[in-house]
Amino acid sequence: MSDYIQNLFAERIGGSRFGRATKVYKFEKIKRAKREAKKKNPNIELLDFGVGEPDEMASNMVVEALKIECGKPENRGYADNGIAELKAAAAAYLKNVYGVEGIDPEKEVIHSIGSKCALAMLPDCFINPGDAVLTTVPGYPVMATHAEWNGARVVRLPLKEDGGFLPDLDSLSSEDLRGAKLLYLNYPNNPTGAVATPEFFGKVVSFAKANSMVVVHDAAYAALTYDAKPLSFLSIEGAKDVGIEIHSFSKAFNMTGWRLAFLAGNERVIGAFAHVKDNFDSGQFMAIQKAGVYALKHPEITEKTVSKYKRRLDLMVKALNGAGFKAVMPGGSFYLYVGAPSFATAGAAFNTAEDASEYLIKEALISTVPWDDAGRYLRFSATFEAKDKEEEHRVVEEMGKRLKGLGLGFGN
Ligand SMILES: Cc1ncc(COP(=O)(O)O)c(C=O)c1O
Repeated sequence: MSDYIQNLFAERIGGSRFGRATKVYKFEKIKRAKREAKKKNPNIELLDFGVGEPDEMASNMVVEALKIECGKPENRGYADNGIAELKAAAAAYLKNVYGVEGIDPEKEVIHSIGSKCALAMLPDCFINPGDAVLTTVPGYPVMATHAEWNGARVVRLPLKEDGGFLPDLDSLSSEDLRGAKLLYLNYPNNPTGAVATPEFFGKVVSFAKANSMVVVHDAAYAALTYDAKPLSFLSIEGAKDVGIEIHSFSKAFNMTGWRLAFLAGNERVIGAFAHVKDNFDSGQFMAIQKAGVYALKHPEITEKTVSKYKRRLDLMVKALNGAGFKAVMPGGSFYLYVGAPSFATAGAAFNTAEDASEYLIKEALISTVPWDDAGRYLRFSATFEAKDKEEEHRVVEEMGKRLKGLGLGFGN
């Protein structure tokens, strides 16, 4: 059979090398290590702290709303750029939960089929070959990937512990800023769990104005905060002049698989996004949008989830610190981001967080996600499987016991 297809792949995905790379990427490595560990130890429970999505179903009431809406003929067709009810509910939700005033539901709000595709489409609105985007690392890479695919230079801003995991915008050189059009931020942050402050967001607004940039604030975890009220970028004066914010239903309402999010903010950005989106998809199923309206009108659903994660994160902080880690309660998200160990008493040494994570899976059947982009860190997620509080205690205690047993060492 002629293999000409291999030679037709676009350079953006590797050209004729696509699918032939020998390098194994992080998430595939984790998957393989998990499989191997399970095979070797079929009777030992794998403790999965690597999951990046909620462990629970959406609220019964939201499910019921979907059931009802599913049966209505008026919801059957193409939803295009979305229904007015969802736009109105989104603007009201921003006001009720985040204190954001004055969002025009018609011109300044639009839904999307999850935030992932919104992030993937935004570069199509702005990026020409030779432009640049600024993005934070470690972090969710989707917008930067698509910007790169459109020919942009990607400038990575490291999130460091001594900077509160906020990017140092003052450190950017004129070369970094050459042709820069988009700035991607995400707070509460995945994976660091850090939250932004109004002062930082204020600085972002001035920075964006001074450098003529558009701010894309990915607020996927915005509603999940532990010691302060949720903060929206749009609540900062001038924010709407420079950017937009993306709110996802995935984490706030345990609706990961439902695929629903909304964008709000600058009218020009929303308008361009609507044009691009209209050329990609025909909108989310209207019944799902209407169930989403129900969710937005019931933010107490999220409050219940927040108290569960807080309880779990508290337990995890204690267990990890008992095994030598330096864990602190995050400001938001459902992640604990802790410095990775550098050795274990059995003689293993780890040069990277990836090495340490692989060791924890193989030797203790504990799964985490490693990050080596700005220091060596492991991410433990509070969305592990546990059906009640008793089970939560058991799982976290077991994790602590196993980690302690490894005799982990930190530093050199
Ligand atoms: C920071 C961040 N942004 C966006 C997403 C994607 O969310 P959605 O389910 O709305 O596509 C995730 C999912 O893990 C995330 O961690």
